[in-house]
Amino acid sequence: MRTTILDIQKMKQRTERIPMVTAYDYTSAQIADRAGVPMILVGDSLGMVVLGHTSTVPVTLEEMLHHTRAVVRGTQRALVIGDLPFLTYTTTEQAIQSAGRMMQEAGAHAVKLEGGSAMAPTITRLVELGIPVMGHVGFTPQSVNQIGTRVQARSSTDAAQLIEDVLELEAAGAFAVVLELIPAQLAAVVSQRVRIPMIGIGAGAGCDGQVQVWHDMLGLYTDFKPRHSKRYANLADVIEQAITSYADEVRAGTFPDSEHSSSMTDEALQAALAQTGE
Ligand code: KIV
Repeated sequence: MRTTILDIQKMKQRTERIPMVTAYDYTSAQIADRAGVPMILVGDSLGMVVLGHTSTVPVTLEEMLHHTRAVVRGTQRALVIGDLPFLTYTTTEQAIQSAGRMMQEAGAHAVKLEGGSAMAPTITRLVELGIPVMGHVGFTPQSVNQIGTRVQARSSTDAAQLIEDVLELEAAGAFAVVLELIPAQLAAVVSQRVRIPMIGIGAGAGCDGQVQVWHDMLGLYTDFKPRHSKRYANLADVIEQAITSYADEVRAGTFPDSEHSSSMTDEALQAALAQTGE
């Protein structure tokens, strides 16, 4: 049975912590789904970890749709959330178009968009139309050119604004909100103040759930390691070793061996050669 936003909200009511990971392709989504992760985010972080950009800004809606389709195909149980990329929700009308495509063409079960109270009217309309929306405040990567990459809402004014933002997103009908790169104490207080789940990344353990970027937590992305990500594996090393072994065996002529090849009878081969005049 597919996880719904109601299941996710019940997890908060039961004080059950909610793990979320990103995924960007069919095979990874299958693995996350088998691991029992209830929510998978097809994040626009794919701009960096899959496409090699330096930020999420260049990511297009078409790219997000392409990857979201693959992730949806790889899952049976997880709720799949498609990130709306930069400048694809600048008006409510545009947000309806973009979120509609994410749901209808890619099969996402919800969308995520960045921004505080300014996004509330858009969220209200999307929710009225039956589109579940996850909010995202604190460090919002699509605004990196304005805000840099530092921890957000450290001052009392900014912290109060963040609390207001989350309350407005909740009132607008967001089913959950990502809190990225904010002080742990603030995230804990915010999580207690609202009924909807707060999913943290770089926001401490007081959130209702956590999200990690696939390539960071598995040690696949080596350009840099964000402080808030924990490496649960070093797959870049494992894969590099595997590819080196493969290349060595090809060079030495030991791959493929008979186990990885197929054969035909000598008679059939001779007959084929005779037919081609050899
Ligand atoms: O794009 C992404 O992966 C995200 C997470 C970091 C929350 O927005």
